[in-house]
Amino acid sequence: MKNTYYITTPIYYASGNLHIGHTYTTIMSDSIARFKRLQGYNVKFLTGTDEHGLKIQQNAEKASKNPKEYVNEIVEKIKFLWELFNIDYDIFIRTTDDYHIETVQNIFENLYKNGDIYKGTYKGHYCIPCESFLTETQLIDNKCPDCKRDVIIQKEDAYFFKISKYADKLLKHIEENPLFIQPESRKNEMINNFIKPGLQDLCVSRTSLKWGIPVKFDSDHVVYVWIDALSNYISALGYRNNRENLMDSFWPADLHVVGKEIVRFHVIYWPIMLFALNLPLPKQVFGHGWLLINGNKMSKSQGSVIDPIILSKHFSIDSIRYFLLREVNFGNDGVFNNELFMMKVNSDLSNLLGNLISRTISMVIKYFNGVIPNQTEILNDDMELINSVKNLKDKVTSYMDQLKISNALSEIFNCISLSNKYIDETKPWILGGDKNSIDRLKTVLYNLCESIRVFSILLSPFMPNTSKEIKCKLNYEIDSFDSISEFNGTKAGTIVQKGENLFPRINIEEKLKELLNKYI
Ligand code: MSP
Repeated sequence: MKNTYYITTPIYYASGNLHIGHTYTTIMSDSIARFKRLQGYNVKFLTGTDEHGLKIQQNAEKASKNPKEYVNEIVEKIKFLWELFNIDYDIFIRTTDDYHIETVQNIFENLYKNGDIYKGTYKGHYCIPCESFLTETQLIDNKCPDCKRDVIIQKEDAYFFKISKYADKLLKHIEENPLFIQPESRKNEMINNFIKPGLQDLCVSRTSLKWGIPVKFDSDHVVYVWIDALSNYISALGYRNNRENLMDSFWPADLHVVGKEIVRFHVIYWPIMLFALNLPLPKQVFGHGWLLINGNKMSKSQGSVIDPIILSKHFSIDSIRYFLLREVNFGNDGVFNNELFMMKVNSDLSNLLGNLISRTISMVIKYFNGVIPNQTEILNDDMELINSVKNLKDKVTSYMDQLKISNALSEIFNCISLSNKYIDETKPWILGGDKNSIDRLKTVLYNLCESIRVFSILLSPFMPNTSKEIKCKLNYEIDSFDSISEFNGTKAGTIVQKGENLFPRINIEEKLKELLNKYI
């Protein structure tokens, strides 16, 4: 069995501050990467920054900086953001890194020598913010179909990539590999709206732009940003550069996580580049939905963005991670607003998770001086909880295999809810008042501690800080994935710690007043 796993996020445009929508893509990928690590895979999780192109050149000019100085500052901010949100990446690539530039130049030259790239003249529509050439039919009301902004007409000498040559091969690959594009709806959209109407050769160089990777054999031209950007997935693995060569162990990628508007680049241009280079295609491209504000995609130009750094000053990182992962459900769009967010934090994190932990620990302290008791006799009344907890690992794994993160979290929280119900039904406070029920009380509290240990391990990919805090409180040592389904990983005799309340209830009305116009 292959035990490596290679997962990537898109590389982010180093053209301004990132908002909570970008943060979602990275949190989603981070959670998948962490889950795979928990399962024992040797994971490479790649993220980074996309630093070339007209938009960045223009932004740098406006800021009276040279482009490299400009992107350096933004990259620092992005790295800070990922640290804040506990993004545990293995490689951070910058498209201005020398090794990446070397790869892109080699790829371009290789495609030219093979006859897949040829020289011609380009005239057409170009969307500057999206760095995207568009055909007449793709425009909507003469504007870019993605960002709905004006496009400009470009005419220049250019190199073209014969993508039409590979259209049939691509279609065959997509049809023979149903998991290649996920969710299913995106696959149909790509086939019907883009591939079947006919692929036109792609313009892959520019002369009017200076801030890009020069074509090695014709240095008036710089490489089209998407050819540059997409290559990052293999340049990071040392493909045709001096870096350590990880291609044999990690290519093809297991998963490219991308937002729905850039699926097109990942399932048309990228596979065709790989065909032309004789490399295998990634196993899956997952196009997730957007985080919407007031019904629209978050967008800086429309003034509707949530700054994740400001948000994190008001709420814990894990509550934000939880909300985003729960709210954007398998490829669908999700909605962010302050009230919805706080309601979810209160209902799930305070009422269910926080409450379960604080009730259980308080009772272990009250009745057993903080020492986790041993399980004595298991009764039928315990079996619903025990079986649900034992089966949780498989259910969560199955959802994670399908990238249904929201469903995976739902399963965990259903089980947390069941544990609260178990407390209400077994009534430990009554058992504690009756000397003859002490053995029963031991079993009930052991079962609760063991359930919480399992929740903590299973939550660790999604809410890493919370999982660490629970581990401190319960002091458990066994935290392996294998230990989850045995229901015996908690060691009786372990001393628990009360510590702080993990998720204090938010007074929504008061907080809303405090937040008025703060970050929307
Ligand atoms: N640089 C390109 C990607 C090149 S990959 C070879 C790019 N960068 S981006 O910064 O504009 O976007 C990065 C990711 O953030 C994309 O997957 C995009 O879909 C995602 N998001 C941007 N706004 C978003 C929301 N409002 N909601 C969810 N994801 C969003 O595209």
